[in-house]
Amino acid sequence: MNDKKAPAVTLKIILIGDSGVGKSSFMNRYVNHRFTNMYRATIGTDFLSRTVNIGGDTVTLQIWDTAGTERFQSLGTPLYRGSHCCMLVFDVTSTTSFSSLDVWRKEFLVQGEPEDPTDFPFIVLGNKTDLSNREVSHRKAMQWCKDIGAEYFEGSAKEDLDIEKPFLRAAECGLQQYKKHTLENTGHFQITCERPREARNTCQC
Ligand code: GTP
Ligand code: MG
Repeated sequence: MNDKKAPAVTLKIILIGDSGVGKSSFMNRYVNHRFTNMYRATIGTDFLSRTVNIGGDTVTLQIWDTAGTERFQSLGTPLYRGSHCCMLVFDVTSTTSFSSLDVWRKEFLVQGEPEDPTDFPFIVLGNKTDLSNREVSHRKAMQWCKDIGAEYFEGSAKEDLDIEKPFLRAAECGLQQYKKHTLENTGHFQITCERPREARNTCQC
């Protein structure tokens, strides 16, 4: 009798970027379907969970919201480790917040120590598209994403615009990372492969 079951999958998705760009707002809109104009800076770190279905696999997204003000204090902490996808968030009305992403990304790669930094998935997210005083064009953001091999999405937490797509893509990329690295390391990869063929549509082996 084979009583081995595919393990429940939990993906760690982390949001980083300057203070005030809307990381908490975007996450709250996605998980709780709520938004507030009041700004309460995040202190420390917390996560919210949401379950999604990716090509037949049910996965739990553990979305980690970080504090933009704590960039330099977080050096050396294990916060970034074990992430399956990183969302780099900026405010489309702030060139400064966009320029900062390069540093955020590099710090993530140093501190997060992903297994293979060359194939680690980054999703770049431009928030606050509802505002008229835009400073970073879609084209400019796309160009940078092309340069670093990331995917670009933009939307508005306030207006509930294009919230789902970036998280869904983060989940898809994160699941690939998980299958490639986490399962390999924990030896669960084979268990996944023993699932019925029809449930294996995303298995690479
Ligand atoms: P830290 O926790 O300090 O790192 O900031 P944060 O990135 O989590 O930003 P937060 O979500 O707290 O949002 C900062 C401010 O921007 C708040 O006043 C939000 O109401 C506002 N805000 C967030 N998203 C949007 C948006 O899509 N449009 C507009 N107009 N304002 C937004
Ligand atoms: Mg916050």
